[in-house]
Amino acid sequence: MIPYGRHFIDEDDIQAVVEVLRNAVLTQGPMVQAFEDAVATYVGARYAVAVSSATAGLHLAALAAGVGPGTSLITSPITFVASANAALYAGAEAAFCDIDPATINMCPDNLRDALRKHPNARAVIPVHYAGLPCDMPLIKAICDAAGAVLIEDAAHALGARYADGQRVGCCAHSLMAVFSFHPVKNIATGEGGMITTNDEPTYRRLLRLRSHGINKLTDSFQLPEQATTAGVENMWYYEMQELGFHYRITDIQCALGLSQLKKLDQFLSRRTALASSYDQSFASVQTIRPAQSSGHDRSGHHLYVLRIDYATAKISRAELMHSLMAKQIVTQVHYIPVPNQPYYQSLGFQLAHYPNAQCFYDQALSIPLFYGLTDEQQGFVVLAIKELVP
Ligand SMILES: Cc1ncc(COP(=O)(O)O)c(C=O)c1O
Repeated sequence: MIPYGRHFIDEDDIQAVVEVLRNAVLTQGPMVQAFEDAVATYVGARYAVAVSSATAGLHLAALAAGVGPGTSLITSPITFVASANAALYAGAEAAFCDIDPATINMCPDNLRDALRKHPNARAVIPVHYAGLPCDMPLIKAICDAAGAVLIEDAAHALGARYADGQRVGCCAHSLMAVFSFHPVKNIATGEGGMITTNDEPTYRRLLRLRSHGINKLTDSFQLPEQATTAGVENMWYYEMQELGFHYRITDIQCALGLSQLKKLDQFLSRRTALASSYDQSFASVQTIRPAQSSGHDRSGHHLYVLRIDYATAKISRAELMHSLMAKQIVTQVHYIPVPNQPYYQSLGFQLAHYPNAQCFYDQALSIPLFYGLTDEQQGFVVLAIKELVP
């Protein structure tokens, strides 16, 4: 079976995990900080907070951005539900702005309109779809003018670079960025995520929110009289200062993440080469085009997505996916647009309001792209698709 995405684990990764298992500290230990430091250094951000998933990270980021009841949060309709759910978890209203069909990322002009329609927008979450970075300087200028905070959904984009050459997650153009380490992503920790930021108060807030809202670092006590007994420190004392969550990640996962991070550049160069090879292979097929035709040199290449004109090719997507599955090739659709989900429909959203997202959804197909995909396997995938989509 050739999946659409798969992690790559080697002996070094296994050894890194085994070492933690042989040690006394399985969670809240030194590997968490070490992984945070390594990711912060890699992307060029001052701070990083590791969490149990990117979903948890987006929730905490929304809270730290001040998203809450009476506010709204705007994201892309073409994303995983987690990007929009962050608004709902925080008690805010979710809103969407349509994509740019050339990049499948949030369209800056549509964002400007969406911000006009939602003057209570507290935050915007652009999604670097498939790893291709959004035009962040332009999006930042639009958000700054509207007083909205920017949180990047960088779940697909570890290792990617903006047009200015800086790495996604450096937070030069946002308050926070959130990465995912789910096994199909660019590095794996099993489940896991990371929030990066350059803002110290935000960093401190994220640390508290990650662990029940309990004070961290040098946060001062709100009830100092309970912190001492006749001038002697009460060693057991801590304070829950706001309602937080248990979104921590383990040292076991962070050891794996640290080991994986060492291979990220190697992973990325293979993903880039595979994507270029797909581009060339399908260039001659009239009914097929890559969903994202530019920015290949700076994308994180989490996914390789085709746009297929199924009507002209006289095959439905369902038939194509089944026929490929019969050849042991797994494909997927990223994503069912969030406004089309029954839960979002029940909130009044309609996909028809996002025509570019609708058109993209009708044509999209993610085909296998991962570090361990061999040239032979890729050739087999190309041949199979070309046979079925003339
Ligand atoms: C764009 C996007 N955002 C957020 C997430 C959530 O990531 P996690 O599974 O780490 O919670 C995903 C996961 O697929 C995603 O694709």
